Amino acid sequence: MPSVYFETFGCQMNVADSDMLAQALFARGYFPALSGAGADLVVVNTCSVRERAEVRAMARIAHYAIQKKKNAGTRQLWVIGCMAQRLGEALLKQIPGIDRVIGAKEIVSFAQEIDDALPGRLQTHVDLSGATNSAAVSAFVPVMRGCDNFCSYCVVPYVRGEERSIPYAQIETVVRALVDKGTIEVTLLGQNVNSYSDGPMDFSDLLEKIQALPGISRVRFTTSHPKDCTDKLLRTVARWPKLCRHFHLPVQSGSTRVLDRMNRNYTRETYLRLIKTIRHTLPDADITTDAMVGFPSESDEDFAETMSLFKEVRFTAAFMFAYSKRNGTSAAAMDNNVSEAIKKERLSRLIALQTEITKDHYAAMVGKELEVLFVEQQRGGKKLWRGQDSGCKRTLLACNENIAGTILKVRATRSSGMTLITERI
Ligand code: SAH
Ligand code: SF4
Ligand code: F3S
Repeated sequence: MPSVYFETFGCQMNVADSDMLAQALFARGYFPALSGAGADLVVVNTCSVRERAEVRAMARIAHYAIQKKKNAGTRQLWVIGCMAQRLGEALLKQIPGIDRVIGAKEIVSFAQEIDDALPGRLQTHVDLSGATNSAAVSAFVPVMRGCDNFCSYCVVPYVRGEERSIPYAQIETVVRALVDKGTIEVTLLGQNVNSYSDGPMDFSDLLEKIQALPGISRVRFTTSHPKDCTDKLLRTVARWPKLCRHFHLPVQSGSTRVLDRMNRNYTRETYLRLIKTIRHTLPDADITTDAMVGFPSESDEDFAETMSLFKEVRFTAAFMFAYSKRNGTSAAAMDNNVSEAIKKERLSRLIALQTEITKDHYAAMVGKELEVLFVEQQRGGKKLWRGQDSGCKRTLLACNENIAGTILKVRATRSSGMTLITERI
């Protein structure tokens, strides 16, 4: 039987896409290879969001192309995802040895028609009646694809295409099938997940319906856009305990002037008001964010506003980036006057600030009770289980039993900075 190995870069949407393609291949008799070396098929799923992400993916693709040349056999190399979409067939010329380039826009139809895509020597005819049929405790479920927001720095609308919500009936079918195979937590995915709509159904209605499905214990969602974070959404999360207490709300910048140039459709003030409303409606919720420094024309004053917003909001955690120019986006045409040295300096100051705040949040949890879903065992010998509370806090518990897929009450005994060490109550 042929084996397949996936190397996936980028966001959760890419993880979900790799998984979808993997399932299509497993259903045809493929088995997962433990590494790229020796796999019959290697799939590299790529990201284009920052230049660095592309450089890293290119290096891996080149590495597999060289390996492939060395042990000529049935080895195939496919490049999929956002960079495959952005560069298309040009990739084939850039790195000889790639067999197929499948862009992010065509990945769904490709996975559906995989039989036509498999070269003869990679087709299988096997009896699958004895195949195992289990899914992960926690699974990603795309509920929309693409993005229409065109934030001025962002390549996603170009590589993923226009926003389209997946019809509710289809989502329900997917979630029920996952539950049948053992999944109890789903994370609903979309680049702007809270603008979901299916006829009269909005994102709040979707959450309410999904959490009511039998067998579902927890529902998460990401990424929410601040402009679409309605009072109804907050009330819905507050009302249903299975909806997780975590809002990932990328702010990008604390300066209204920069936000306007980013085309984010909110101001510093409206963002802060939204945070206040969340804290009021859901006092125990974790709020996390993405932010970037060094957007074209960002001044010392603009950056100071990002620092002060971080101090004011006190996010539980944040992803922070240096602006990366993406050709074809509208920001690429702006005068880029922030030097790399300044970007680097601002980024390290922001990260240092947030690291302290995150540590404080975790330290404040010591002694408190949490309800944790345990997902998997920590790699490396000891019987340590990794889990997450209803917010975004990561926990560890020493336990000899198999507790994968169970929600337990635990108490935090210690914080190691960004993980809580817990004991059972
Ligand atoms: N749809 C989500 C995530 C988009 S990509 C959203 O709207 O937030 C994830 C993060 O990458 C973004 O939130 C942003 O902070 C960062 N990002 C996107 N484009 C970037 C660029 N050109 N340079 C640096 N960071 C970028
Ligand atoms: Fe990119 Fe903005 Fe869409 Fe997020 S909302 S994917 S940052 S264009
Ligand atoms: Fe990257 Fe594509 Fe996701 S560009 S962040 S993998 S949508």
